[in-house]
Amino acid sequence: MSTNHETNGARGRSVARVVTSIETYEGAGFPVHRPFPTRALGEIDPFLLLDRMGPYDAAPGQAAGAPDHPHRGFETVTYVIDGEMEHEDSAGNRGRLGPGDVQWMTAGAGVVHSEMPSRAFQERGGRMHGFQLWVNLPRKEKMIAPRYQDVPSGRIPIAVAPDGSARVKVIAGEALGAHAIIDTRTPIFYLHVTLRPGARFTQAAPPPYNVFAYVLGGEGLFGADERRAGVDQAVVFQTDGDQVSFVAGAQPLDVLLIGGVPLREPIARYGPFVMNTPREIQQAIDDFRAGRMGAIDRP
Ligand code: CO
Repeated sequence: MSTNHETNGARGRSVARVVTSIETYEGAGFPVHRPFPTRALGEIDPFLLLDRMGPYDAAPGQAAGAPDHPHRGFETVTYVIDGEMEHEDSAGNRGRLGPGDVQWMTAGAGVVHSEMPSRAFQERGGRMHGFQLWVNLPRKEKMIAPRYQDVPSGRIPIAVAPDGSARVKVIAGEALGAHAIIDTRTPIFYLHVTLRPGARFTQAAPPPYNVFAYVLGGEGLFGADERRAGVDQAVVFQTDGDQVSFVAGAQPLDVLLIGGVPLREPIARYGPFVMNTPREIQQAIDDFRAGRMGAIDRP
């Protein structure tokens, strides 16, 4: 029996590594699981960071967020699963993200924003759960004007396999014939895949895409070599094939499957700034301190 699961002559990728998230705190003190960056894994080009916020149950008045802070040189992608976030920024944008909603923010040259639990959520408390992914920008786009794509859950396509074994929320890219409505600056797919017990999912992922999966729930076998991974582990695939595949175990398997074409450019990063050189980082720090990234105007 082949373990390579070839379909139409396509070759299944094997697994480079399985990484267990570290647990840490972010912003004003909310718990996150973080597969990267850590000492063990710096980035998965073009992806710079993935944080799973919670899930945690906040008592009334106890939910924490990330008050005013800057970003430059990359994109932040927020995907709320439970809870309600409110954002405001130095360009005058403000909005609210509820369960299933996505905000794809291109920080570009720089923005100061806040990402906080909404006032209503803060008052009543409840479950907070979501993801933030950082996507690097190519050198030539690091200083573009900031842009927001705020996409309510109802506008994000959901594809279902013909036999009902897989449900895929297509945040970026395409899967099972469904195309995302979010634009990306470089080729990226971002899929939330839910599989029935024992079901298999296969996604086209030609080189040079770098691809990883993050397990939110259940456990499964990943790649041509069927490596086992469970909750809060990230599976990084090799680039030795043109598709990735995984199978759910005895429980439903809930996975983020994320891939992108690597930029292969030097990375200089310091906190909320990601540029190509240390000099550009110093410039970002100077610009922020001098107020050149603006401030949030609150009435
Ligand atoms: Co931020």
